[in-house]
Amino acid sequence: MQTIPQDYQPAKDLLKNRTILVTGATDGIGEAAAHTFAAHGATVILLGRNVKKLEYVYDQMVEAGYPQPAIYPMDLEGATDADYAEMATMIENEFQTLDGLLHNAARLDALMPLEQYDLKMWARLLQVNLTAPFLMTRACLPLLRKSADASVIFTSSGVAHKGRAYWGAYAVTKAGCDNLMETLSDEVEANTAIRVNSIDPGRVRTKMRKKAFPGEDPMILPTPEEIMLPYLYLIGPDSKGQTGKIFSV
Ligand SMILES: NC(=O)c1ccc[n+]([C@@H]2O[C@H](COP(=O)([O-])OP(=O)(O)OC[C@H]3O[C@@H](n4cnc5c(N)ncnc54)[C@H](OP(=O)(O)O)[C@@H]3O)[C@@H](O)[C@H]2O)c1
Repeated sequence: MQTIPQDYQPAKDLLKNRTILVTGATDGIGEAAAHTFAAHGATVILLGRNVKKLEYVYDQMVEAGYPQPAIYPMDLEGATDADYAEMATMIENEFQTLDGLLHNAARLDALMPLEQYDLKMWARLLQVNLTAPFLMTRACLPLLRKSADASVIFTSSGVAHKGRAYWGAYAVTKAGCDNLMETLSDEVEANTAIRVNSIDPGRVRTKMRKKAFPGEDPMILPTPEEIMLPYLYLIGPDSKGQTGKIFSV
């Protein structure tokens, strides 16, 4: 597991003139990443399934005086190959290139033993957490290739590195994302300027964490805003040359 340089200080305009797509931008870590990237100059495409929540994040960002974001409503559970192709066409028409892609959206659903594992839930988690990032990356690769240096970030988890009782499909999808990251990194390293890495955010004060650990005092956990340095480092040009790695916060 990698960490970012200890004294890392992002420049205020680190992401100026960059277009970055953030999935799951309506809550938790994704919402914080969208704000943080925009505060450092990026034009952020906010992707989420809930239009009201997307509009709220959009309004907050406009109010803060950040570069005008864009909203792209999409439910990753039902999205098809054609939907991803349409999304890529929209990005190409509006922004020409894509400089960053943060695969952040995920579901956890319930923790349960494999013996009782619900098949519908298994399929849903694989779709949202693993197949969606694959299809989205595939659709966006031509746009990422057009960038002078593009960054793709997958989101890992502690249970990706070693399976744990009751974490079922969630853990499987996170391990799958890390493997997808390594495969893609290996495929594009030699012939593109695209770097591909994962971030394991650790324990963070969000709705997902609350769902997994309802009895835990959330105040002992860092907020999403407090863990943004690795996200900035990896999404921006300071991480040029870093690829195929899993970073911890
Ligand atoms: N929090 C932690 O301690 C922790 C630890 C390790 C890894 N992670 C990972 O970090 C990432 C962010 O987690 P979080 O804690 O910030 O979770 P969160 O607060 O539950 O936010 C998840 C985001 O994903 C979106 N999303 C879920 N299903 C979707 C779908 N079908 N289509 C589109 N968007 C969808 C949610 O949209 P809605 O707003 O509509 O629900 C929300 O914006 C995830 O990949 C998670 O696995 C988190």
